[in-house]
Amino acid sequence: MKKKTILTAALSACVGMAAAQQPAISRDSKIEAQIEKQLAKMTLEEKIGQMTELTIDVILDKNVKQGLKVSQAMLDTVIGKYKVGSILNVPHGAAVTRQEWQELITVIQKKSMKEIGIPCVYGVDQIHGTTYTAGGTLFPQGNNMGAAFNRALTREGSRISAYETKAGSIPWVYAPVVDLGREPRWPRMWENFGEDAYLNAEMGRESVLGFQGDDANHIGKYNVAACMKHFMGYGVPVSGKDRTPSQIPETEMREKHFAPFLEALRNGALTIMVNSQSNNGMPLHANYEYLTQWVKNDLGWDGMIVTDWADIVNLWNRDHIARDKKDAIRIAINAGIDMSMDPYNWDFCILLKQLVDEGAVKMERIDDAVRRVLRLKYRLGLFKTPYYNWKDYPLFGSREFALKALDAAEQSLVLLKNQDSLLPLRQGTKILVTGPNGNSIRTLNGGWTMTWSGQGQERFLQDKNTIFEAMQQKFGKDNVSYVAGVSYKNEGKYYEENEPQIDKAVAAAANVDVIVACVGENTYAETPGNLDDLALSGNQRQLVKELAKTGKPIVLVLNEGRPRIVSDIVPLAQAVVDIILPGSEGGDALANLLAGDRNFSGRLPFTYPKSQASLIKYDYKPSEQVTTMAGAYNYSADASAQWPFGFGLSYTTFKYTNLRVDKAQFTAADELTFSVDVTNTGNREGKESVLLFSSDLVASLTPDNRRLRAFEKISLKPGETKTVTLRLRGSDLAFVGTDGHWILEEGDFRMQAGDQVTTVTCTQTKRWEEANK
Ligand code: BGC
Repeated sequence: MKKKTILTAALSACVGMAAAQQPAISRDSKIEAQIEKQLAKMTLEEKIGQMTELTIDVILDKNVKQGLKVSQAMLDTVIGKYKVGSILNVPHGAAVTRQEWQELITVIQKKSMKEIGIPCVYGVDQIHGTTYTAGGTLFPQGNNMGAAFNRALTREGSRISAYETKAGSIPWVYAPVVDLGREPRWPRMWENFGEDAYLNAEMGRESVLGFQGDDANHIGKYNVAACMKHFMGYGVPVSGKDRTPSQIPETEMREKHFAPFLEALRNGALTIMVNSQSNNGMPLHANYEYLTQWVKNDLGWDGMIVTDWADIVNLWNRDHIARDKKDAIRIAINAGIDMSMDPYNWDFCILLKQLVDEGAVKMERIDDAVRRVLRLKYRLGLFKTPYYNWKDYPLFGSREFALKALDAAEQSLVLLKNQDSLLPLRQGTKILVTGPNGNSIRTLNGGWTMTWSGQGQERFLQDKNTIFEAMQQKFGKDNVSYVAGVSYKNEGKYYEENEPQIDKAVAAAANVDVIVACVGENTYAETPGNLDDLALSGNQRQLVKELAKTGKPIVLVLNEGRPRIVSDIVPLAQAVVDIILPGSEGGDALANLLAGDRNFSGRLPFTYPKSQASLIKYDYKPSEQVTTMAGAYNYSADASAQWPFGFGLSYTTFKYTNLRVDKAQFTAADELTFSVDVTNTGNREGKESVLLFSSDLVASLTPDNRRLRAFEKISLKPGETKTVTLRLRGSDLAFVGTDGHWILEEGDFRMQAGDQVTTVTCTQTKRWEEANK
């Protein structure tokens, strides 16, 4: 008999236009029977082995420097003796080919099947395309995918990444990243879809469906299991530094940080990775309420929860909530962790067995965890097909895939200023490309690209164009020159720069019509990307200031993983483009856009700050901004942001008229259909992301200024008008009250799309008894 496990998204099915097709996920009774049969024959040691994940370097033969060789002795220990059920990460810290992946995984799987009779599940961080398989397709990073506001692109990117990942026999990716990027100082801002909960929920769901396909019970040959990370609240460390504590109130945790996880789990996401840090003093890895109550009990979700890197140990030697490692394991497993990523140590196996023998961890908890691990392996079809043949994936690294990545990059670049229509640049224009990011493939991709920090990725990406190379191809070799002016120390820390040579760039500017100044950051990942000063580097700002003195118009290109403060140089530039981290095709995307062969359509997925001490978000509370920043297009409003969330210009103009709704009064169960007519009033074809915001005018808890509730991206020819339909449920306008329950209160909501405003009125207060709407 089939039993419902992951609840169908009856509610979310109606939210947002693209959410209409929700796959229903029920347990496969055959799989469940296989799990029980398998479990019944397993010893405690074998069960604990399934709950253990190690990094690949542990089993590699360290004496072999060239190529990859697995150490038989280590395989005997790790898989033969300790029955370890999962391996992660890229060998020797750098991408390998799909053939090499296949060979490596084949060795592991043969050993696993022989020794345990259960296949290994291998996991890798493919977070912006196929980041750890040489020759794979690299998509823009998460922030860019958020900026594109295009669900289909996100789904397609993950679909391609799944295909290429499977070409190397890897069945599991640690993506998508749905932390809310609400802290611009944080070095992982760029990995997720931006600051908004709804945007992350929508894109997260699309990414899961792209990775996993439509049937989470039977992940096919071209799909992989997704891993939602990092559960949850990782994106708002109080200090701004990576892996440091947050202080998120319970109301906000449920209403915002949990939202993308909820949406993804309801749509079949098979695994979760836990946030490394603590919230309100409680490490997430020890939080029974979140791990077990919210996710497993409240939702009936039957997927698997894995720790982040060494985070059980961190409960002891970093967070000091456990006496020793064994105590840390007891806390984490009892809180609901199913698999421990303790990359270099298998004493987890010994210590957890002791805990079970002593009765400190119950056998039912072990069985529950192991069922979840086995369910993942059965759903992935690993028992039948533990590895694949790379030759069956002919589209790997194809031009077809690269063009999709190019499209995604083009739709994700954000035009922030275009004074006197400096852009697009005419053919024949003499251009100086300058700045440390102007001739670097590394900075286009960012971290998690071929290597963890992104350092050394160039050798894998010889055929890809930097901005300078793409500009030369677009505008002619003789018309485009490059002088760095400021350069990074590529072997050093991400923020280290060489002695600047600004005068050389200034001299080169004498011979050109336009300067394209490419500034930003070098690449980093995680904690090494911490910063002490959010302003763009002094050298780089000086470069722009000196270039401005030449009187030549400047196009300022921002290529950075987080919005570095540029308020003193923005007035010196006639045009500004934030390319964020657009991936390997980003150089070509920018050249196409600067030449006007394509039109800009990206919008900021975060609020770009103007000053260090004012890091406001778009959904701030009314008291944070008393002079109102009322409308999506009210850019002159007196708020201390350089550019607001959702801001982005185009080469054409759009006019919004006639925002209307099918019912002005509603209750929680009603579906509201908003329509707005959008006209392209300029003379170029363009894409427009139509965003619908709500403002709750009076609520028992001070309401957010605005919330994004729906969006849709359309394409319009000059003079063309389209009616855009945006649907939401009355219940979407609820919030989490102080008692932790969702509530929709009677009263008015101001709804806004473009400059169009209408009001809808809730006529009946509803409070949800259950945890989720
Ligand atoms: C990161 C995760 C990543 C994991 C495995 C950790 O350090 O926080 O995002 O998935 O390593 O590589």
